[in-house]
Amino acid sequence: MTTNLEVKVWRGKEDGGFVTYEVPRLDSQTVLDVVTYIQRHLDPALSYRYACRVGMCGSCAMNINGKAGWTCRSHVSHVAAGGKLEIAPLSNLPVVKDLVVDMTEFFDKWARAKGSFKGVLTRYDQFARVEPASKQRRAADAGIECIGCAVCYSSCDVVAWRPDYLGPAALNRAWTLVNDVRDIAQPERMRAVAGDAGCHSCHTQGSCTERCPKSLAPTAGIAGLKRLVVKAALGSRK
Ligand code: SF4
Ligand code: SF4
Ligand code: FES
Repeated sequence: MTTNLEVKVWRGKEDGGFVTYEVPRLDSQTVLDVVTYIQRHLDPALSYRYACRVGMCGSCAMNINGKAGWTCRSHVSHVAAGGKLEIAPLSNLPVVKDLVVDMTEFFDKWARAKGSFKGVLTRYDQFARVEPASKQRRAADAGIECIGCAVCYSSCDVVAWRPDYLGPAALNRAWTLVNDVRDIAQPERMRAVAGDAGCHSCHTQGSCTERCPKSLAPTAGIAGLKRLVVKAALGSRK
């Protein structure tokens, strides 16, 4: 006998609401399978995003029973308490429609945090050699696998309180670059992360680190930035 899941899905924009669907429960079913079933069999107008289905692209992130996560890697058996699912768009970003959010502000903040690499070498120079065991290389490597899914950003209550806060992903990116010995934009980057909306706004409770599907620790990177900013301020008073 096939059992059904009761699935509430957000429809519309910010002023929309939940619509309930009955979806057949299947073995090894993911939350993305559930959303796809609804769109293909029950309501073709449902909007959502995904690309890889295997935890590589980060585009399928949504709120699942109140917690942000990748729908393609969230098994129904792990998240559907009592056979019930509530699927909503990510928090802290404007809703375009249904389960799709506008990521513009999220990526603008990467730019504001000086999150792009600036080097000096040309194609004619030798590659820079960076010792894999060096402290800075290990710090950069620890945060480099971010794929920009915004799960951390959606989970951060400081972003909810003050929308100008750069947020965990942009600050994690800044931290990887602060530790990149080849990069020459460190003064601008330090100024960008030291501002009012930068690292000092983080309260270190760690929802970003708890939820990051790549097991990264933006909280630790932000703490590192705080230390560097304080050190630079003390140094400038000498
Ligand atoms: S730090 Fe983790 S949760 Fe945040 S955007 Fe990167 S991969 Fe996603
Ligand atoms: S630790 Fe900082 S960046 Fe992470 S969720 Fe909390 S306030 Fe946001
Ligand atoms: S669809 Fe690419 S991470 Fe889920």
